[in-house]
Amino acid sequence: MCGIVGCKGVDNIKEFLIEGLKELEYRGYDSAGIGVIDKEDLKVIKAVGKLVNLERKLKNVKFIDPKVGIGHTRWATHGKPTEINAHPHRGEFSAVVHNGIIENYQEIKRFLQEKNIEFISQTDTEVIVRLFEYYYEGDSFEAFKKVLDRIDGAYAILLITKKEPQKIFFAKKGSPLIVANNNDKFFFASSDAPLIGYASAACYLEDGEFGYVDDKIHLFKDNKEVSLNLKPLPTNKESAKKGGFRFYMEKEIYEQADVLKENTLGRNTKEGIKFDELDKEFFEGINNIIISACGTSYHAGLVGKYLLERDAKIRTNAEVASELRYRNPLLTKDTLFIVISQSGETADTLETLKMAKRAGLKTLALCNVDNSSIVREADKTILLRAGIEKGVASTKAFATQVMTLWMLSNYLSNKNEYEAINEAIEVTKVDGALHEKIKRLSKRYLHGHGFFYIGRDIFYPLALEGALKLKEISYIHAEGYPAGEMKHGPIALADPELFVVALLSKNILFEKTKSNIEELSSRDATILTISSEYIDMTDDFIKIKETSHPMVEFFEMMVITQLLALEVAIRRGNDVDMPRNLAKSVTVE
Ligand code: M6R
Repeated sequence: MCGIVGCKGVDNIKEFLIEGLKELEYRGYDSAGIGVIDKEDLKVIKAVGKLVNLERKLKNVKFIDPKVGIGHTRWATHGKPTEINAHPHRGEFSAVVHNGIIENYQEIKRFLQEKNIEFISQTDTEVIVRLFEYYYEGDSFEAFKKVLDRIDGAYAILLITKKEPQKIFFAKKGSPLIVANNNDKFFFASSDAPLIGYASAACYLEDGEFGYVDDKIHLFKDNKEVSLNLKPLPTNKESAKKGGFRFYMEKEIYEQADVLKENTLGRNTKEGIKFDELDKEFFEGINNIIISACGTSYHAGLVGKYLLERDAKIRTNAEVASELRYRNPLLTKDTLFIVISQSGETADTLETLKMAKRAGLKTLALCNVDNSSIVREADKTILLRAGIEKGVASTKAFATQVMTLWMLSNYLSNKNEYEAINEAIEVTKVDGALHEKIKRLSKRYLHGHGFFYIGRDIFYPLALEGALKLKEISYIHAEGYPAGEMKHGPIALADPELFVVALLSKNILFEKTKSNIEELSSRDATILTISSEYIDMTDDFIKIKETSHPMVEFFEMMVITQLLALEVAIRRGNDVDMPRNLAKSVTVE
């Protein structure tokens, strides 16, 4: 995901911008750039790929009298990762960096093009600087405010202009932005790590805040000047990168609500689902769907099977890629082949994609990494926009995979679940009290001879995923089972030392799942039930919110199973982010 830095009055502008961007590297990016007002000139230098490429270019650039500077690392969403699409985007006399998505950029672009204003990039961001220059009539701040009135969507914006070389204009809505100062030196960044060591306190801007920096920070909200709310900055960079969390995985669990907002931005609209990357013709003649993936991505695929078949009425199968690849499957041309992958490099998944293409099938990738092998190979891609996932155990990528499949099934069935999708995002916000409860509960689940996670329907793939999470990082044996299957064998293992995590939906097969829990309880298994309705025969109980939509229950239960795995693993003293024997990207078969 993109990163932003900016500064005014620092001794070495190049160093601050580049070192700041390096601090944001962990978020993932595919191009980078800086823009500096140098004396009377606007200099913009950009490069595709890693920051070393930008640094190489900057070696030959000498600034004479640098006033203000902005920098950006871009994770491609609108338009390929090219130098033209990299930020800053410049117009005739100004430049802008932006994180987020301008939802109405196409309409603004058309408006400006009708006025003969030319665009050179494929990005949504370019409209900001073009619009600013269109509105400019001698007062930069007035023009900037007009831009903010006109654009919809999410953004963190820094804008500089030759018209007022000593100022940086800024705005925040939906994407993070921080401003700080140290006497007459001013700094901006999209997260606090680049600011550590430069300032001792910072203002974490709130949505709707905007303003400019000259010899002080002028902050506005609802067109009134407001005072800065300064908070102390952390002093340790490594912990700042982890946002104060103990592990990246924990941070990534907490990030899920934001990441899902990003994932659904411009896609989940009141009028229904929109995918810029798809058109309805692509699905013409499609009677079947095969979903191919591995591990957690396969579990997301299984959820997709339930949703697509039930809502879109298209026969759907989810397949483990390493199996599909060698079993000479029947591949007919009326089948859409979907691959799901966080990394985009998983060898087994990639090979099944190639196999489907050889058989002449239409292919669609759901992937988190643009320009990865899978994205390059597939006919079409929906990017997951989860940001870089550092923890080996996938959490936020899984959340975006499931959400994307849910949106896809809405898209194909013309169903509009706008409100339910937003409700599902809301319940992924981690409640501190709930986390504390799970922390406490986890001490009772450290021994025993193993775990069963059980659920029905979409909660069965969630049971598989909950079990995988636990075994990956805690090294305790765990299995996911369809709740109705227990009596066909696994129940033989039931005794007080068998732990069962029961995913009990109020909306899907409640009574039947409850009976399955009863069967285990009467054989003295130790049961932790997650549900909105309390049941008597459980040992432990975690209450979720009441809702009429099973997917909302799904997302809340997902967070709980992730936190449970995390806390059990931490109590066992394991390295949660780098579990033994596992790699983040499995490029071998
Ligand atoms: O990058 P991918 O989504 O293709 O990776 C697939 C699996 O290797 C991955 O989901 C794995 O199961 C994770 N460690 C799960 O936490």
